[in-house]
Amino acid sequence: ATILVLHGPNLNLLGNREPEVYGHETLDDINARLSSTCLAAGHHLLHLQSNAEYELIERIHDARREGINMIIFNPAAFTHTSIALRDALLGTSIPFIEVHLSNVHKREPFRHKSYFSDIALGTITGLGSLSYDLALQAALTRLTDTH
Ligand code: DQA
Repeated sequence: ATILVLHGPNLNLLGNREPEVYGHETLDDINARLSSTCLAAGHHLLHLQSNAEYELIERIHDARREGINMIIFNPAAFTHTSIALRDALLGTSIPFIEVHLSNVHKREPFRHKSYFSDIALGTITGLGSLSYDLALQAALTRLTDTH
């Protein structure tokens, strides 16, 4: 199977960006680790980070054409704003897991609202980059069970 990891705006700054909130690892570190886990399990992993909402939307549309089986998605600030990304996921019916590095529920009230949580398979928040690894474990388990 093929899993797509999507990272939203400002996640390209990981490692330098508020390290007390987001940790010291870079996005390349995280992507490399996820890729090797996925490969070891006999699956493929693709990833994209974008600061542009339309690029993320178009990547989701393309994912349907490519037959991508699962998306692991950290929508970053778009979590709290983007009906368009929500509609892209609803429109393509690709199952996805929502991921956050920080615990959005113990931060500012505007981060408590997500346009994705009620349509996600599940949400993992607050465990740093481990949130992504746990989401990948869940995706791999699910894909192995059903395929
Ligand atoms: C984030 C949480 C969002 O509120 C924030 O806008 C981000 C990152 C996280 O991974 O903790 O950019 O999605």
